[in-house]
Amino acid sequence: MGFDPDWLALRAGFDTAARATALEARLARHVAGRHDIRVVDLGAGTGAGLVHLAPRLGARLRQSWCLVERDPVLIAAGRARLSVQPEAAGVAVNWLKADLATADLAPVLEGANLVHFTALIDLAGRAWLEDLAGALARAGVPVLGALTWDGRMGWDPAAATDADAVAGFARHQRRDKGLGGPALGPDAAPYFAEALRRHGFEVTLARSDWVIGPDHPAMHQAMVDGVAGALVDLVDGGEAPAGLVADFRAGRAAAGPGRLVVGHLDLLGIPPSLA
Ligand SMILES: C[S@@+](CC[C@H](N)C(=O)[O-])C[C@H]1O[C@@H](n2cnc3c(N)ncnc32)[C@H](O)[C@@H]1O
Repeated sequence: MGFDPDWLALRAGFDTAARATALEARLARHVAGRHDIRVVDLGAGTGAGLVHLAPRLGARLRQSWCLVERDPVLIAAGRARLSVQPEAAGVAVNWLKADLATADLAPVLEGANLVHFTALIDLAGRAWLEDLAGALARAGVPVLGALTWDGRMGWDPAAATDADAVAGFARHQRRDKGLGGPALGPDAAPYFAEALRRHGFEVTLARSDWVIGPDHPAMHQAMVDGVAGALVDLVDGGEAPAGLVADFRAGRAAAGPGRLVVGHLDLLGIPPSLA
């Protein structure tokens, strides 16, 4: 499954507005005494995580980021983007093309002071999340994982078919996304939090909801298209009634964009050696 760079660019501003600043502040306190830091960003896309987080980690901190991504189109777009992005100025950037489903994370995490990801673990299955928690524990490295969808998606005003459509979208999220079997989707953040706690991590979860007002028509359209696209797959597989897609689109068009809240969770995990 590929992600469209235009979609990643569209969502980036909503991600930044939504992210749990309390967790970032806590992380910044952890790194406050350091002169340099090595960050590994998993599923980096076009580098939005670096653009968001690097300035927040501290302007005087020497930063080196390893951006792990499997999609060469996104890597090429990311390289071009970061070469002119002011937030990346002075940051040493290394792109690593790798499939996280099969990559050995141990050498990637060696020497890392922070692992970061955005909008990744809802694509992952149980075994992969257990493996990631184990690898982080062995490396003794803190993790900041932002914007994992938590199953909430609600429009105001609502349309009659919204609930069925969102339930269908959540079912689709649980399909295998190529990251360790059927994805946990909305259950991923609490599952991963528990996996880390079993390794002694101190874990905090905090809400990071998108709030999309009527003045953002492109984002509203992208959300309706995203849900509808998932429903088309379900209908094609005989898992949803044929009329659901058209009914959902018609219901949303009649209700108007209004205000859409999409629920996410951010997670900060501090290993026992640093807690
Ligand atoms: C929702 S996008 C988020 C991208 C980026 N973190 C951002 O916030 O813009 C999920 C990213 O994870 C990457 N990804 C998904 N499965 C992967 C895998 N098995 N190996 C490496 N990257 C993967 C996708 O290519 C995509 O870039």
